[in-house]
Amino acid sequence: MSVIELKQVSRWYGNVVAVNDVTMTIGPGVTGLLGPNGAGKSTLLHLMAGFLSTSGGTATLDGQQIWRNHDIYRTIGLVPEREGVYGFLTGWQFVRSAARLHGLQDDAAERALDLVEMTAAKDRRIETYSKGMRQRVKVAGALVHEPQVLLLDEPFNGMDPRQRLHLMDLVRKLGAAGRTILFSSHILEEVERVAQQIEVLVAGRHAASGDYREIRRRMTDRPHLFRVRSSDDRRLAAALIADASSGGVSLTAQGLEVRTEDFRRFTRLLPRLARDLNVHLWQVSPTDEDLESVFSYLSGRS
Ligand SMILES: Nc1ncnc2c1ncn2[C@@H]1O[C@H](COP(=O)(O)OP(=O)(O)O)[C@@H](O)[C@H]1O
Ligand SMILES: [Mg+2]
Repeated sequence: MSVIELKQVSRWYGNVVAVNDVTMTIGPGVTGLLGPNGAGKSTLLHLMAGFLSTSGGTATLDGQQIWRNHDIYRTIGLVPEREGVYGFLTGWQFVRSAARLHGLQDDAAERALDLVEMTAAKDRRIETYSKGMRQRVKVAGALVHEPQVLLLDEPFNGMDPRQRLHLMDLVRKLGAAGRTILFSSHILEEVERVAQQIEVLVAGRHAASGDYREIRRRMTDRPHLFRVRSSDDRRLAAALIADASSGGVSLTAQGLEVRTEDFRRFTRLLPRLARDLNVHLWQVSPTDEDLESVFSYLSGRS
C-alpha cells in the first residue's frame, strides 16, 4: 500500500505559478484530480511522478522524497496526456521497449498487455489503433514494471463512450487490487463514476477534497441563478419575492431571473407556487451551471 504526500507544494515556471501551496495525501484506491484547464493538474502529476522538481514544499512517496530518487521511480507509472507513442511500432514492440527500459523481460510486457486486454491486437501497428486502444497500450507501457502507483493524465479525453467505459472498468479494477491510482479530468461526471475520493484543483490551489457526495454538496450549496419563463411571469415573480429562498427576482425580456441562496428549497418551491397560482412553467434553466463558475466559486471559499 503506497501513499503520496504533498506538503505545501508549489511549482512555478518563470512568473507563472502553476501549483500554489498544495497539501494533499493520495492513498490506495482510485482518486480523481478534478479541475478546469490550466488548473495545474498536469504539473501536479509530473511532480508526483518525479518528472519535475518542486519549487517549494515536499513531495514524498511512503515517506521518501520523490525527486531524483531512482528507487522510487520503480514503483510509479505515469500515463502522460500527449500521445507519447510511435505509430509505426506495434503494440507489442512499444510495450516490450517499455519493459526493456526497466530491465525486464518479454513476460512483463505480455502480462501488461494481457491486463489491459490488448493481447489480440498486439501485433498491429499503433497507428491502426482506435484512440481507446492507443490509450490502453499506453497504460500497459506504464504498468510493465507493476508499479504500486499509477498516475494518469486526462485518460478518458477524446474516447468514445464504449471505450471510456472499458478504461473506467480497468482503472477501477487496478484500484480495487490495492494500487494507488490518481487520474486527472475536467469533468465531474467522469471523476465521480470512477473515483472514491476527489481532489479539486483550481488555479493552482487545492480547492476541495472529499467523496463525490461531499463535492456535489459543495457545488450545489452556493448561490444559483435561474432563468424562468412561464405563462405569467409577473404573478410568479410576486410570489417568488415573498419567499425567503429567493435572493432576488428580476423581470427581463427573456423571462425572470431568480437568484437563490437555498437551491433545495427553491427547486421545491417553484413547482408548488406555479401550481397554486395556476401558472404554466415553460422553462427553468440554471444560467451559471458551467463548471468554470462552479470552480471559481469553490476556489473563492477556500
Ligand atoms: N512548461 C511550462 N512553462 C510555462 N508555463 C507552463 C508550463 N507548463 C504549464 N504551464 C502553465 O502552468 C499552469 C498549469 O498548467 P497545467 O499543469 O498544464 O494545468 P492543467 O493540466 O490543469 O491544464 C498553466 O497556466 C500553464 O499555462
Ligand atoms: Mg493538463
